[in-house]
Amino acid sequence: MKEKSVKPESIAAQALGWVDDATRGIAPPIHTSTTFIRDADNQYRSGRIYARDNNPTFDQAEAVLTALEGGNASLLFASGMAAATAVFLSLAPGDHVLAPKVMYWSLRNWLATFATQWGLRVEFIDMTDIDAVRRALQPGSTRLAWLETPANPLWSISDIESICALAHSAGALVAVDSTAATPVLTRPLDLGADLVMHSATKYLNGHSDVIAGTLTTREDSAQWQRVKSLRAQLGGVLGPFEAWLLTRGMRTLFPRVRTACASARAIAEHFTGHPRILEVLYPGLPGCAGHDVAARQMRGGFGGMLSIRLRSGGTESGEAAAIAAAAHVELWKRATSLGGVESLLEHRASIEGAGTPVPADLLRLSVGIEDTGDLIADLENALASAY
Ligand SMILES: Cc1ncc(COP(=O)(O)O)c(C=O)c1O
Repeated sequence: MKEKSVKPESIAAQALGWVDDATRGIAPPIHTSTTFIRDADNQYRSGRIYARDNNPTFDQAEAVLTALEGGNASLLFASGMAAATAVFLSLAPGDHVLAPKVMYWSLRNWLATFATQWGLRVEFIDMTDIDAVRRALQPGSTRLAWLETPANPLWSISDIESICALAHSAGALVAVDSTAATPVLTRPLDLGADLVMHSATKYLNGHSDVIAGTLTTREDSAQWQRVKSLRAQLGGVLGPFEAWLLTRGMRTLFPRVRTACASARAIAEHFTGHPRILEVLYPGLPGCAGHDVAARQMRGGFGGMLSIRLRSGGTESGEAAAIAAAAHVELWKRATSLGGVESLLEHRASIEGAGTPVPADLLRLSVGIEDTGDLIADLENALASAY
């Protein structure tokens, strides 16, 4: 496939038009071999030695993602956490890094505990506030600004382009957790970012049956080579079957994400002003903070994720109402995670625990590809039964 002459939708649907040389099959094989033959003259001309460093089943998923993100190269990891932590571990103890106050909770915990004990100087700031970013950057000392946009679970928006300009002038790299946006809606590298990370467990795979993570780089830098060797040395690699499933999942990325976006927007609009809802958090709503930046940097939709905050009613607190509403859904599934074809709902504060910045009355909704009317009716029913 001539990558430059076709749209990303076509690249994804045909996984770059790859055809198996040996069989002419249009679905790729799964390479299970952990080791590869050395040539008789002691060379490794195949370019492969051992599958922890370079499993052939990774190639197609990495190439498709590189094309969709407009990058130079990608790496698969065994999880989103393995991908994200590899970026931080490629820095040196003593380095200063900026991270958002509102971000994926487990990574925030890891940064506040392990990474800090290891010696990174981690500063959590409001990444939606460009002046806060300007004030926090320490030229020559800040090595990395980590963004997540839209950010879990308040779906706040960071301005990638403006932050990249500031960070680069201070000598810092910018990495973006683009899990919720996907390459369908945002291409952070085009906006100046150096690295893009995905929990491929979510939209990229899309079927709630693979744990995986990815990184894509804008250029082949010394930093990228450190990340690459860390993957092999820490050993956090994906199995070949999961890599194969991920390639298959990405073929339907565009229609899945577009369906989820349209439905999430309709659900957000439907529940705005609802008597039982205190607030709907969705960057696609003109009234939501970050909407203007989102409208500029996201193309074709605002994502399939939203959160709702429940009003207290009678003797019920908003928290009790949220937990009761979650108990009454039938079509929505009460489960953590996001980005699958089935709609999930979660009382987020319960899973994040003590110290969470998430309001106790908040339910996080991951909108799948079911009928929008069915999803709205099920939520309406759950809200009516909650008080
Ligand atoms: C935004 C975001 N980043 C990173 C992760 C971590 O990914 P994984 O669960 O694949 O390790 C998650 C998981 O929920 C996430 O939602």
